[in-house]
Amino acid sequence: MSHIEKVGIVGAGQMGRGIAQVAAMSGYQVQLSDISEEALGFAQSFIQKQMDKGVAKEKWDQSKADLTMSNLSFSTEMNDLAQCDLIIEAATENKKIKFEIFKRLDEIAKTNAILATNTSSISITEIAAVTSRPGLVAGMHFMNPVPVMKLVEGIRGLETTDETFTAVEKVAVDMGKTFIKVNDLAGFAINRILMPMINEAVYTLFEGVASAEDIDTGMKLGCNQPMGPLELADFIGLDTCLAIMEVLHEGLGDSKYRPCPLLRNYVLAGRLGRKSGRGFYEYQ
Ligand code: CAA
Repeated sequence: MSHIEKVGIVGAGQMGRGIAQVAAMSGYQVQLSDISEEALGFAQSFIQKQMDKGVAKEKWDQSKADLTMSNLSFSTEMNDLAQCDLIIEAATENKKIKFEIFKRLDEIAKTNAILATNTSSISITEIAAVTSRPGLVAGMHFMNPVPVMKLVEGIRGLETTDETFTAVEKVAVDMGKTFIKVNDLAGFAINRILMPMINEAVYTLFEGVASAEDIDTGMKLGCNQPMGPLELADFIGLDTCLAIMEVLHEGLGDSKYRPCPLLRNYVLAGRLGRKSGRGFYEYQ
């Protein structure tokens, strides 16, 4: 499969709807699939609002906004992905769920369709192994917020073919993203570097070195980061940060990746960051 026209996306959450928006804006026919009708409805109105905002700010014109919306279809029926040339899975970051989705996609997708995953830490090789087409499976790790962040981390599983990797690179570039090539090892490249920094910021708070505000101000003004590491952790979700640290700890077997007990406690307490209204900071 080298010519991709129709892109399927599984999962209409924050990442899935962002990928759907960018793909539709880039001229692909997009089929967004989710088990929840409500999530699909929310995604549709969210993308519509983004389109309207862009028109108001003169980032693009009304015809581009209309064309983008007309490129999008929404469905709770996974079988509607059957005609897609590329399907990008962006469901919950949970191995069992992802394995089930990939088994099902393998059954319903065209035999030459590429199956990609937006996983931030689960092994691409392991996901590919539950399908009958491991050569046609690759990682496409988008960053949050997808419409703003310019990177796609492309991850090559053990069996990913050159043709598959070239095809997903082309799609990412068509979406206006820069594609970096990464091999399949725990945490890939971005989270292997980003998460230990966030975890260290949590230790810095935990050990009383500085307040959350001062840690974040220090990293913003001293290192030119757009968000401080604790604010960024709240933005990503503390449960996601903890899960990725656990993958790094287990996958690389080095104690330097042990998750900070404070991070674990916050997650146990339900302080998950922005999405739960409270993490290192409080949100309305
Ligand atoms: N969706 C779409 N657009 C958004 C957005 C969203 N959720 N949030 C902000 N934007 C847009 C705004 O519309 C605005 O666009 P214009 O300049 O055209 O008006 C632009 O982004 C800037 O937004 P704001 O002025 O509101 O705020 P800001 O300047 O503080 O930027 C930010 C917000 C882009 C999120 C910035 O703080 C930032 O870059 N933060 C770091 C984000 C980051 O590191 N992401 C990676 C996380 S790690 C990850 O995703 C991988 C993983 O596996 C965990």
